[in-house]
Amino acid sequence: MEVKIEPARRRDALPTLALHRDVLAEGRWFISYPEELLGSLDVREHQIRNLSASDGGCFLVARLPGVQVAGFVMVSVGSLQRTRHVGRLEVMVAAAHRGKGLGRALVQGAIAIAEASEVLRKLSLTVFADNHAAIALYRSLGFVPEGRRVGEYLEADGTPRDDLLMARPM
Ligand SMILES: CC(C)(COP(=O)(O)OP(=O)(O)OC[C@H]1O[C@@H](n2cnc3c(N)ncnc32)[C@H](O)[C@@H]1OP(=O)(O)O)[C@@H](O)C(=O)NCCC(=O)NCCS
Repeated sequence: MEVKIEPARRRDALPTLALHRDVLAEGRWFISYPEELLGSLDVREHQIRNLSASDGGCFLVARLPGVQVAGFVMVSVGSLQRTRHVGRLEVMVAAAHRGKGLGRALVQGAIAIAEASEVLRKLSLTVFADNHAAIALYRSLGFVPEGRRVGEYLEADGTPRDDLLMARPM
């Protein structure tokens, strides 16, 4: 399959925002509900510009023939002297395009950029402890568990969910 991983451009702001809202609307993978996504077009354009310009950070999109944005990965780098060696990674693929290697290609792209950075020492992320697909992907690319926050999140029906902290040294 012909997937292209490339840096997001300004014109990707709207499709990445739409994809982000769709994935949040699935209600299973991220802690925010769609209405909690602070996502104006301006904010997203700013995010694309800033992450792409930061040392070790990135905003990459996965393109398929006829699909402008089938998934994306963001790495935001700490802004303080004591945090700027860590990049926080977030990845998502549209439901219709999962299981085709896009998530792996996106995370590999982000790792390559992080590895080329002189500043970054570590990529870190948090993932629901029951998100087995994401955890398998991260493990296969060298991320290791660093800890588990038990009952860190609460579903609307009162069910607690655990948060797994994972990281990959550079
Ligand atoms: C997690 C996610 C990004 C993976 O992207 P994807 O394009 O579906 O994954 P890929 O096809 O590249 O598969 C990569 C690896 O992920 C794991 N994986 C993917 N789908 C899986 C599934 N249904 N069950 C178990 N493992 C799975 C496998 O380890 C797979 O490697 P393999 O193909 O060699 O077995 C995608 O499922 C997604 O967007 N999920 C919803 C959002 C989300 O959970 N984001 C992460 C939050 S921390």
